[in-house]
Amino acid sequence: MRTEQPKMIYLKDYQAPEYLIDETHLTFELFEDHTLVHAQLVMRRNPERGAGLPPLALDGQQLELLSVKLNDLELTAQDYQLTDSHLTLNPQTEQFVLDTSVKIHPESNTALEGLYKSGGMFCTQCEAEGFRKITYYLDRPDVMSTFTTTVIGDKNRYPILLSNGNPVGSGPQDDGRHWATWEDPFKKPAYLFALVAGDLWCVEDTFTTMSQREVALRIYVEPENIDKCQHAMNSLKKSMRWDEETYGREYDLDIFMIVAVNDFNMGAMENKGLNIFNSSAVLARAETATDAAHQRVEAIVAHEYFHNWSGNRVTCRDWFQLSLKEGFTVFRDAGFSADMNSATVKRIQDVAYLRTHQFAEDAGPMAHAVRPDSFIEISNFYTLTVYEKGSEVVGMLHTLLGAEGFRKGSDLYFDRHDGQAVTCDDFIKAMEDANGVDLTQFKRWYSQAGTPRLSVSEQYDGASQTYSLTFSQSCPATPGQTEKLPFVIPVALGLLDAKGKELPLQLAGESSPAGTSRVLSVTESQQTFTFTGIAEQPLPSLLRGFSAPVKLHFAYSRDQLMFLMQHDSDGFNRWEAGQQLAVQVLQDLIGQHQRGEALVMDQRLVQALRSVLGNEQLDQAMVAEMLSLPGEAYLTEISDVADVEAIHAAREFARKQLADSLYDALWARYQANREVSKTTPYVPQASHFARRALQNIALSYLMLTGKPEVLAAALEQFEHSDNMTERLTALAVLVNSPFEAEKAQALASFAEHFKDNPLVMDQWFSVQAGSTLPGGLQRVRELMEHPAFNIKNPNKVRALIGAFAGQNLINFHAADGSGYRFLADRVIQLNGFNPQIASRQLAPLTRWRKYDSARQALMKAELERIRNSGELSSDVFEVVSKSLA
Ligand code: TRP
Ligand code: ZN
Repeated sequence: MRTEQPKMIYLKDYQAPEYLIDETHLTFELFEDHTLVHAQLVMRRNPERGAGLPPLALDGQQLELLSVKLNDLELTAQDYQLTDSHLTLNPQTEQFVLDTSVKIHPESNTALEGLYKSGGMFCTQCEAEGFRKITYYLDRPDVMSTFTTTVIGDKNRYPILLSNGNPVGSGPQDDGRHWATWEDPFKKPAYLFALVAGDLWCVEDTFTTMSQREVALRIYVEPENIDKCQHAMNSLKKSMRWDEETYGREYDLDIFMIVAVNDFNMGAMENKGLNIFNSSAVLARAETATDAAHQRVEAIVAHEYFHNWSGNRVTCRDWFQLSLKEGFTVFRDAGFSADMNSATVKRIQDVAYLRTHQFAEDAGPMAHAVRPDSFIEISNFYTLTVYEKGSEVVGMLHTLLGAEGFRKGSDLYFDRHDGQAVTCDDFIKAMEDANGVDLTQFKRWYSQAGTPRLSVSEQYDGASQTYSLTFSQSCPATPGQTEKLPFVIPVALGLLDAKGKELPLQLAGESSPAGTSRVLSVTESQQTFTFTGIAEQPLPSLLRGFSAPVKLHFAYSRDQLMFLMQHDSDGFNRWEAGQQLAVQVLQDLIGQHQRGEALVMDQRLVQALRSVLGNEQLDQAMVAEMLSLPGEAYLTEISDVADVEAIHAAREFARKQLADSLYDALWARYQANREVSKTTPYVPQASHFARRALQNIALSYLMLTGKPEVLAAALEQFEHSDNMTERLTALAVLVNSPFEAEKAQALASFAEHFKDNPLVMDQWFSVQAGSTLPGGLQRVRELMEHPAFNIKNPNKVRALIGAFAGQNLINFHAADGSGYRFLADRVIQLNGFNPQIASRQLAPLTRWRKYDSARQALMKAELERIRNSGELSSDVFEVVSKSLA
């Protein structure tokens, strides 16, 4: 906790470091009630900063300084200044060796940043600025050093001692302690440092790289989880091969390790050679993890592995450049997941997520550019904008340059900057140089916040057989940015004739038609493109594959949307047409509800989904995606003023209508798939995910009819399925049903069976936290008292509190403000021991502008109550103050 008002940090103030660290030698002595950290830093004046020897200010927080030596001479208190954030001293020479010893308390570190204990194991989390809680250091990513690390601890409690790089020695000591030394020859910033000590088991494998080097692979877990590592190991090997084949990137050390820990603020961390993972992002087997969890493990293993090049070998100069590694690495992991599973389904899921959550962030008080130009607390900027929109920006480059041009650019980038700490501009420059293009205007995607709106109008002229599309772009003001200049917006499109066939495309001025799908580059605020040789009025299929992160507006009729759902050759746009149709129909219902009218649904939605359901040719995962109505959070995002009750009532009404009207088709597909599931062993692969996805969405619709045969089916699936994907959906439909006895029985038997598996209990909490039946807050309050709940564990907080505030909108936004009060109380509580988690849980309250004035007042009152609640962490302070500004 700090005492002064936290300061804003600006990108424009960046200066290279005054000193550099060439070598870092660390020794950790681990004890139960403290840890000693001895650091020897081989340092020198940064030649870039010119002559003279200014004071050296090392970062350090919550450290008890025991000794400082400069070139082997012990310093006394007169020789340095000590504050709660820095140790400052005067080097006497250009090159020097600094030795410090500090005492720290990992055993009482609840913030899960720096060195801390999770269960009985020591582990670290240093990104972004956690290393300064371990030792005095230049804790900034442009200071890169080699590291040698010795860990000493009790042999029985901590038989496994790990750090970055390759193992170089180990041995016993007296008193039952032992030591191990690790050496990382690759220069890295301190945020990539890692240490693990514990009683762990591991699964082992090997990987032979493209240049025939053998790499040892190890996944370390607590002994009871040793049977849940195979999926992560398979994912790792696939990632390593894929990065060689797709990006030409080879692994560099002799060993690659992953360690699973139960208490972790985020998904995982790419520490060099020693990735540390939230156990939820490693452990997966059929009986305990859903298909979605299996896919998440595969994606996160890949993401962290890919960071070895995009992040570690080439790192960030400063934290404003965070998207340089995160946006690019998300783009890389999305490409991997697309190749391992269904590319269209992956794209649909990513776009739905982006439009629901990132667009909301971009429209709220925390809106910031992909490369922000200021921040108070960097931990608050691990955002959907930096990650997901950052990935979209890289994806647009891929679209504009083509796969080959993009690969030339990435090769040049890795080659040119290996071993360096660089900027987003350096990334763009490599793309420019490799392709001979000018991306000056494109770079606005890095500096301008907000979601652009792209309106399209058409004009067909039969006499000249020309068809024109006029694009107008605009971007709303965001905090600190009122004027926006036009973006470069790649628009992939095709034109369909009356039979649904794609027309050959020839732009005015071109000599002949070429292809039936094109990428137009919209660069002006208003711009017209004219196609020639168009013999009939076509129907445009716009923004195929969601080729840019914009809000597209084109006045499609419902019949045109149904036509696109049937005929568009772009799978993404077939889904998108269905979503737009559903949005229009749901908006009718929302209006009816608001006017107090009886709800009457446009039957074209039923008809469209009936034909999707009857299409046996279509990938079943696509059928499942198309059957999913836009979520309440997305309907909120696209409303000017979101009417919580009307949105919920309209969507539930539509779901019930669809269930009643499509009952037979849903039942047939449910039964067919459940039969296959019963007799097929679980395999985590796309065709199996697809079968279960359709089966499960069918069950959730069918259950709305309340028919006894459906209840029987849900109970059968709950009791007899051999995998968590089927079991959890069955539990969820029971929990959301009116069958009180069956619900209670299912919840109890599930909890009894899985009480010793914390990740499964997280799912049990989430299913209940998400139940939109009345009384949601009371249920959540009671669940907080359950023995398996623990507010100190971030996964539990997300599973119960996060799921309630983020996914149970009707209960969270209760008109009496009880949901807001509850969340604010939890944020105040979390602020006291885990600021990063506190700040993240605040997000729903920052969206207050979306709601009616009564709710706005209630939400703001809670934000103010948090602001006045005492000593705020910089994390919570920043979000609260910006939300109220
Ligand atoms: N770099 C991590 C990633 O792969 C993000 C991360 C993990 C992180 N743990 C963190 C960021 C703690 C901030 C704080 O995306
Ligand atoms: Zn990352």
